[in-house]
Amino acid sequence: MSDELYRPGLEGVIAGESSVSTVQGGLTYRGYPIEELAERSTYEEVAYLILYGELPKADELKAFRQRLASQAAVPGAVIEMLRHVPNSAPLMDVMRSGASYLAHWDPDLDDTSPAARLRKAERMLARLPTVLAAKHRLRQGKEPVAPDKHRSLPANLLWMISRQEPSERLVRALDVSLILYAEHEFNASTFTARVICSTMSDIYSAVTGAIGALKGPLHGGANERAMEVLSEVGSVDNAEKWVRQALAEKRRIMGFGHRVYKQGDPRAAIVKPLCAELAQEVGEMAMETIAETIERVVLEEKGLRPNVDWPCARLYYYLGLPIDLYTPLFVVARVAGWSAHFLEQAASNRLIRPLSRYTGPDRRAFVPLEERH
Ligand code: COA
Repeated sequence: MSDELYRPGLEGVIAGESSVSTVQGGLTYRGYPIEELAERSTYEEVAYLILYGELPKADELKAFRQRLASQAAVPGAVIEMLRHVPNSAPLMDVMRSGASYLAHWDPDLDDTSPAARLRKAERMLARLPTVLAAKHRLRQGKEPVAPDKHRSLPANLLWMISRQEPSERLVRALDVSLILYAEHEFNASTFTARVICSTMSDIYSAVTGAIGALKGPLHGGANERAMEVLSEVGSVDNAEKWVRQALAEKRRIMGFGHRVYKQGDPRAAIVKPLCAELAQEVGEMAMETIAETIERVVLEEKGLRPNVDWPCARLYYYLGLPIDLYTPLFVVARVAGWSAHFLEQAASNRLIRPLSRYTGPDRRAFVPLEERH
């Protein structure tokens, strides 16, 4: 066995094949550059593209949207479960439990055909936003808002969260962020989903595991931590000093750096101008200046550029969303990618079971209990 094959964190290792997306030559989903998808399509179109491999025709999109809208209501028992979850529970934990719990009411649970797996993926896509909005309202002592069949997925999500009519600009901002969060080849949570699939387990288990992986601050959890950085810095005057000190203390600035994108995350470049527009609309231009200063100093000191979580955190802040909804929104979007990877893995499965390089003691003789001192 060759040690040369060992790479900590599997860095640079090709761990499987995928036709869903690639980061080579810029990020593309099924061949389409994300810049064009973000500018010219919607999250629902992109979710369809990711799941089915092609952009939907008008009638296919209509039918897809209808299927999502008609399945957005969750079983009453799921709402009851959410009532019993402590209000202090982190919303990412609620999403993880929600994904797992939804499985019990899925009529296709045991059907492993590709068509049934797509139906299950669509149900999760439709229902996880409802789980998020419902628990957010319940913990505020408010009743959940029923999903509205006539709204798009992002418009409905904002509606179910606040019961207020969101402006078109806010809906579009959320829509773009969901497009950019929808898929990203072999990231940690997607790889988790594929490992679970490779044991011939089910899609709900894969998504539940993936949510657990996404929660961590080195992955999806970074968007919430990025907002905490901005709050901690507090003012433009404090920004430069704060960053230099944090870096001197070897702290990681959340929202910066990336395992693959060393010259900048293309998704961050798309969200940044949206942040500037929204900041203007909601009177938060100082926050943009703080972010700008932090970006400059982190680049000067460490040569690191922002990843998608850095501007998305501000975008969600300007949308008026509480910080602990940020990573759950990532879940809402990424279910599309996780599901597509599940289907792809299942279609040509091989158990994912690598080796470890052993670093423990040499082989030794067993010592009976009475002789151990
Ligand atoms: N803040 C400060 N320093 C950082 C950093 C950050 N956000 N990200 C990386 N670095 C530093 C490391 O400390 C290391 O410095 P050193 O060489 O002086 O020890 C160097 O940059 C290389 O980092 P490394 O951890 O090897 O890179 P990686 O490929 O493993 O890291 C991340 C990728 C994403 C885990 C890392 O950049 C990070 O922790 N970022 C913050 C969390 C985040 O935003 N995650 C969302 C990703 S989309």
